[in-house]
Amino acid sequence: MQERGQWGSRLGFILASAGSAVGLGNLWKFPYLAHQNHGGAFVLVYLGAVLLVGFPIMVAEIVMGRRARRNPVGSFALLATGRPGGKAWTAVGFLGVVTGFIILSYYSVVAGWTFHYIVLSLRGELGALASEPGALQVYFGQIFLGDGVQQAGYHLAFMAVTVGAVYFGVKGGIERVSLVLMPALFAILLALVIYAMTTSGFRPALAFLFRPSFAELQPSAILAAVGQAFFSLSLGMGCMLTYGSYMKREDSIPRSVLEICCLDTLVGVLACVVMFSIVFTFDLKVTQSATILFTTLPTLLVQLPLGDLANGLFFVLVAFAALTSTVSMLEVVSSYAIDELGWSRRRATLTMGVAIAVFGLLSALSLGGVPALSRVNLFGRSSTAGVFSSLDYLAANWLLPVGGLLIALFVGWFLDPRDTRDELETGRARLGRSFGLLRFVLRFVSPLAVGAILFSIIFLGREYQ
Ligand code: PFF
Repeated sequence: MQERGQWGSRLGFILASAGSAVGLGNLWKFPYLAHQNHGGAFVLVYLGAVLLVGFPIMVAEIVMGRRARRNPVGSFALLATGRPGGKAWTAVGFLGVVTGFIILSYYSVVAGWTFHYIVLSLRGELGALASEPGALQVYFGQIFLGDGVQQAGYHLAFMAVTVGAVYFGVKGGIERVSLVLMPALFAILLALVIYAMTTSGFRPALAFLFRPSFAELQPSAILAAVGQAFFSLSLGMGCMLTYGSYMKREDSIPRSVLEICCLDTLVGVLACVVMFSIVFTFDLKVTQSATILFTTLPTLLVQLPLGDLANGLFFVLVAFAALTSTVSMLEVVSSYAIDELGWSRRRATLTMGVAIAVFGLLSALSLGGVPALSRVNLFGRSSTAGVFSSLDYLAANWLLPVGGLLIALFVGWFLDPRDTRDELETGRARLGRSFGLLRFVLRFVSPLAVGAILFSIIFLGREYQ
């Protein structure tokens, strides 16, 4: 086996993992799901999911990765040897690699939109669209999404940049990119929050987000919140497992996981605060929740002196946030090819990158460019029309939770608790009783929570939307 990469520092690991977690999931998806699911109660269920499901499963993934020092398939193969189920567990690792392939294929379509917005700002056109009420929504929904050539082009461009970053490896590419981009992202977001606080929509936004009304909470919103916790924290497909496999022995896992979870949740909630402040200030009629990031913020930023510049800068940062996430997905798929198929890093990133980019064209063209692809509906729900939405629903609401459930079961029930404890207590951490608590949550609480939701949908025929 070739020599494996390693993070240069603990900060490098934290920022790369937070970089993976913080992305379009926080800035684009979380606000749009919160909008679609009526705010308050959804946000509360989400926070519960992060605590009871996200945190323990992230610990489990990183424990596995650092113990085995392999990709998801190799880690399961190594750690499951001689345990109940034996090598069959490698299927869970493989499911993760496939899930990474699928998510990256459509994620980079949305990431590509940020490139378009940067181009629009450079040309000075975004300001004009954003200052005329409703114009940006019409432009985005009816013109840009339906333009197959542009959708495909920006998607391919984003994939090319992703391949470029992964190509240079763990320390030289991924870590270096994250160390610069993540702090910049936090600074900009903070500035936006301060700005949002001065708007009249700030208070209604807080009420919308933090005053739960459980009467409006649909069962489908619970599944969406749990799925979103997995998606946003990059869990359930072995991404954190893979990043954990490059982590140094002396760094503490529980502390790192706590920091990553807090950062990720904070960014998602703050993004909502900013976006809903704008929605309420300008009384925007959001007809398509799914494009809220691309239609609300420009409306506010354009009001600033140098509005075009502010908009351009903002979308540069969204692009960076997306890039640190796409890089982590490609890393999962590539590390599988490197470890298990014996490919060189160059060959792995290029071949997998091209395969994912080509598959992603189906999603890119399903937004209006090719009507036949818009009609594909794998689940027959109104919200899953088109290849893009079908794949997102499949991956985020099913593949990630199922993968996460199996990871929790594996670490909770089959991994030797002494090994788990040993991994968790490196780096001077002494867990004491909290180890028992964590293990209990991993064995019972997380699997039951995720399992019960999936079960109720499959077997009790609950009507979801
Ligand atoms: N966590 C990323 C986001 O919130 O945008 C998306 C993601 C990255 C999902 C990596 C899954 C993954 F393995």
